[in-house]
Amino acid sequence: MRVFSGNANRPLAEKIAAYVGHPLGEVMISRFPDGEVFVKYIENLRGKDVFIIQPTCYPPNENLMELLIMMDAARRASAARITAVMPFFGYARQDRKDQPRVPITAKLVANLLVAAGANRLLAMDLHSQQIQGFFDIPVDHLFASPVIMKYLQEKNYPKLVIVAPDTGGLKMAHGYAGTLHAGLAIVAKQRKSATDIETLNMVGDVDGCHAVLVDDLTSTAGTLCAAAKLCKAHGAKSITAAVTHAMLTDDGLERLRKSPIEELVTTDTVPRKAWDGVNIKVLSVADLLGEAILRIHNDQSVTSLFRI
Ligand code: R5P
Repeated sequence: MRVFSGNANRPLAEKIAAYVGHPLGEVMISRFPDGEVFVKYIENLRGKDVFIIQPTCYPPNENLMELLIMMDAARRASAARITAVMPFFGYARQDRKDQPRVPITAKLVANLLVAAGANRLLAMDLHSQQIQGFFDIPVDHLFASPVIMKYLQEKNYPKLVIVAPDTGGLKMAHGYAGTLHAGLAIVAKQRKSATDIETLNMVGDVDGCHAVLVDDLTSTAGTLCAAAKLCKAHGAKSITAAVTHAMLTDDGLERLRKSPIEELVTTDTVPRKAWDGVNIKVLSVADLLGEAILRIHNDQSVTSLFRI
């Protein structure tokens, strides 16, 4: 087995490699003067089970191209099997044609990964589970929820309600609520027909409760903060947000600073930035990913990782 990392999130890759018990493999990744990516593996890959760790977070195009080129080089170096390890799978939100003449980028990325040489995909909290069906190669889909739930459980909230900040997040919220024996509420976004202004409605009861908003990702924090305000208006006692992938923009950070969200719990699937003035707890999913890599390599069950 050999484990390699692109440049997207080396700190996470190093932790995964430490768990797996193999140092990160040696690979040279550089840029030609015109910006094209050059990759050269420094070691022999012939017949190896190769894992390439690269979340396609910001900047998504650079990180995706790097991953594709790393896989192409590994395939041409006669690797026996290549697993793309994508703790964050970018371009996933465009997963259907929701208006005329738009792309389905999640499917395009799936096609690109396979064309570049991926034999398997290991991903975490895909934006929608159906994306697995965009691949005709095996996909192992991990959830960050065991790590996040453990943290929330330790808080011992007396009256806990899990809130989906939009209807798309209902399945994830339902999973959290079931395991944590908590209530469930949903923020339903609706559009006013003529003016196209969104209104928000709360389905469920958050009054006097500790509300935890759960989502797969946040960037502008618009979804989270709008939902948090609504929770507050409906009498929530405190509000926490639990989001697997935090790719916060500067505007998003500013919005969080002004919002009633007391703490944002997230993971290290994407690299952390300077998050001054916002209470953000970063939990590591490196061991979970490392364990999945070991199990894939040893042909063991990955599902059993999620018996909580
Ligand atoms: C949407 O369906 C996603 O699950 C997130 O709710 C959304 O992408 C978050 O984006 P933002 O933080 O920019 O509102």
